[in-house]
Amino acid sequence: MDVKTIMVVGAGQMGSGIAQVCAVAGYEVLLYDISSAQLDKGTANIQKLLARQVEKGKMAAEDKDAALSRLVRSTDLHDAEKADLVLEAVVENMDVKTKLFAELDEIARPETILASNTSSLPITEIAAATKRPEKVIGMHFMNPVPVMKLVEIIRGLATADDVYETIEAVTRTLGKVPVEVNDFPGFISNRVLMPMINEAIYALYEGVATKEAIDEVMKLGMNHPMGPLTLADFIGLDTCLYIMETLHEGFGDDKYRPCPLLRKYVKAGWLGRKTGRGFYTYE
Ligand code: CAA
Repeated sequence: MDVKTIMVVGAGQMGSGIAQVCAVAGYEVLLYDISSAQLDKGTANIQKLLARQVEKGKMAAEDKDAALSRLVRSTDLHDAEKADLVLEAVVENMDVKTKLFAELDEIARPETILASNTSSLPITEIAAATKRPEKVIGMHFMNPVPVMKLVEIIRGLATADDVYETIEAVTRTLGKVPVEVNDFPGFISNRVLMPMINEAIYALYEGVATKEAIDEVMKLGMNHPMGPLTLADFIGLDTCLYIMETLHEGFGDDKYRPCPLLRKYVKAGWLGRKTGRGFYTYE
């Protein structure tokens, strides 16, 4: 299938990053959010990041302007009827996602592919909320989207081969590398990453080392760009807890039990960078 127009649903950090890379790659992009304040924030961020690319000489000014001209804001979900691909990046909540997918299923043309950027929720269950489960797929981008090369593509139980192939091709046109994964809790990225972060939090909880020491070991010893506690703050501690709970519930295995210290921080509202405090404090 030929994808020309992409609707991105949700203009938060992930959604605006996805809209940016799609517009830069030459797609017509509709960036939808229920809140026009969120759209303002999302589009301002895209403009800022593209302007910085121009300043650094990594992008021509006319390419930035062309990309921005391909990006149209929307607060009307009915715009989904114009899209060949709808890419959802809203809050990680199954009820919200299934309601949204059922609505998109009514609005979008029958051939339109509905993709979710969920980081751990089952694609098969999201697909079951629609009458086109064969056209529903996971397209999991990493944060920060403009920088990270990976897109984890998740096949739901019913996802059709041609839909997978289309999404794989779209991913390549975005300058990203697609990796095929089947639909199991946490897919691969978070099944491997989150238990490592959780273990780092346990090590802190048990007083094995300071937070700085734990991060230093993983940065200098394993060449990770960020230590696990810094990365947890970057991702958001609420997101980390949610993903650990999804793994714990999905596999029923106590090896995925979230660390009590992680729960405590989330209860305190210390969610990481976005709230100014997590394992570290931020200006
Ligand atoms: N948005 C857009 N671009 C950003 C950015 C952001 N938030 N942060 C940094 N960048 C860009 C910079 O502009 C710079 O671009 P140029 O090379 O074009 O100049 C480049 O990234 C490098 O930035 P810096 O030199 O300022 O900083 P750095 O070298 O320390 O890199 C980092 C920053 C890319 C975030 C790096 O620390 C890193 O890779 N961290 C790990 C990120 C990671 O693991 N992400 C996955 C999280 S898990 C996830 O997303 C999945 C999930 O489901 C939870």
